[in-house]
Amino acid sequence: MPEETPAFSQFASPSGEEAVRQVREIMSLRARTGTPMALVRTYGCQQNVSDSEKIKGFLAQMGFSFTENEEEADFILFNTCAVREHAENRVFGNVGALKTVKRRHPSTLIAVCGCMMEEDKAAERIRSVFPFVGLVFGTHVIHKFPQLLLRALTENRRVFERGDDSEDHQIAEGLPVRRDGTVKAWLTVMYGCNNFCSYCIVPYVRGRERSREPDAILKEFRGLVRDGYKDITLLGQNVNSYGKTLQNPVSFASLLRMLDEVEGDYRIRFMTSHPKDLTKELIDTIASGKHISHHLHLPFQSGNDRILKAMNRSYTRERYLELISYAKEKIPDVSLTSDIIVGFPGETYEEFRDTVDLIRRVEFTSLFTFIYSPRTGTKAAKLPDPVPAAEKGRWLQELCAEQEKIAARRCAASVGTVQRVLIEQQKPKTGLLTGRTDGNIIVDFAGDPALIGQFANVRITSARNWILGGELI
Ligand code: 5AD
Ligand code: SF4
Repeated sequence: MPEETPAFSQFASPSGEEAVRQVREIMSLRARTGTPMALVRTYGCQQNVSDSEKIKGFLAQMGFSFTENEEEADFILFNTCAVREHAENRVFGNVGALKTVKRRHPSTLIAVCGCMMEEDKAAERIRSVFPFVGLVFGTHVIHKFPQLLLRALTENRRVFERGDDSEDHQIAEGLPVRRDGTVKAWLTVMYGCNNFCSYCIVPYVRGRERSREPDAILKEFRGLVRDGYKDITLLGQNVNSYGKTLQNPVSFASLLRMLDEVEGDYRIRFMTSHPKDLTKELIDTIASGKHISHHLHLPFQSGNDRILKAMNRSYTRERYLELISYAKEKIPDVSLTSDIIVGFPGETYEEFRDTVDLIRRVEFTSLFTFIYSPRTGTKAAKLPDPVPAAEKGRWLQELCAEQEKIAARRCAASVGTVQRVLIEQQKPKTGLLTGRTDGNIIVDFAGDPALIGQFANVRITSARNWILGGELI
């Protein structure tokens, strides 16, 4: 059994380029089939997807090809999510299942990274329960991936690394990226979160808010448009507070206006917005933009003021509804989506009904709904939580049933309209083309697969729940 490092270690190492070169050399000899193969599995949100694209960028530089098959992989990496217990349990289960893969292919290097690895408890569990995991690293050290992989391949011990809590985590620019698609792209504009919503682990595992310089974002954005990407999503835990900590502060609205000036055939989305920081200026910017999608993902979490306060969300139900009515006034075809937590500690059925009432008033296009999951280290995890899980499950069903009715009604109302659809793929079963409207609604229609990756105008002719059918104009 290889010896373990006593703690998460700091180390002196070769440059990133040198590490990439050395890993490429080692892997060309070590690969089982001649070509080094990597499997990267991503859990959780788009931020993780974007981080995985950077890691895959490094792996591609090292000569790796990619596979989904664990049996043929020389390197397996799970990029994990810590936001809910359910997601964590899936990771532990799936890492556990790799034991037999490692037994069959002892040369395969198994690694775990991402938000869970910034939590002491989860990282410790990987260390003690899964000795076949050879490399563990957190969200703050992705830029050191080449050096970490090199160490895991050359040192006769397991490698554990994550950012030091006292470090002011700098943004590493210029990392390679291997994007998953050719039509849609993620572009991170800021990292971390300062809000400390009482239920949320994110500020603990992703650190304080840091914004990228507008020039760096613009350069990446121009590159994406030049490469033909048509749907570019700006990412951050709370994009509305973008730019506040820069030396020359810039608002998110002005960043959007700057990007919107770039010539080309594309649309911009962004997520996630926080109602406390969402400005009317931003809504006006969406309304007047040339390429900015009329889609606003604005999580409200709860429709009850007492619960919002206990969640430390810093806005009221009334303020939220005010923002929504301003958005509807300025952008009449706005598509609204949201995140909701059901069963926050101490929430009563009456308080939950305020959430149902709010979704009726707003009429969202779609919702991401979650049952509250206690996260060790957060304030909410210390609160009494008397409502049984089964009861919370019934509330969630009630909420979803209401939303299904709303979505069906909204979809039916769009029959007869003409929508600009970005065509994403051909459905294997029906042969129909499928894409998304500006408001992020799926539309199926007959057409030439050569159109995939382009925008097309589609007349909506039918609605089945939340999927639209149409015909190409
Ligand atoms: N339990 C349940 N849902 C949560 N979310 C964040 N933390 C928790 C938690 N502890 C949800 C919120 C957030 C989304 C990304 O995940 O709704 O907006
Ligand atoms: Fe979590 Fe709140 Fe930050 Fe979103 S804004 S990442 S819910 S703490």
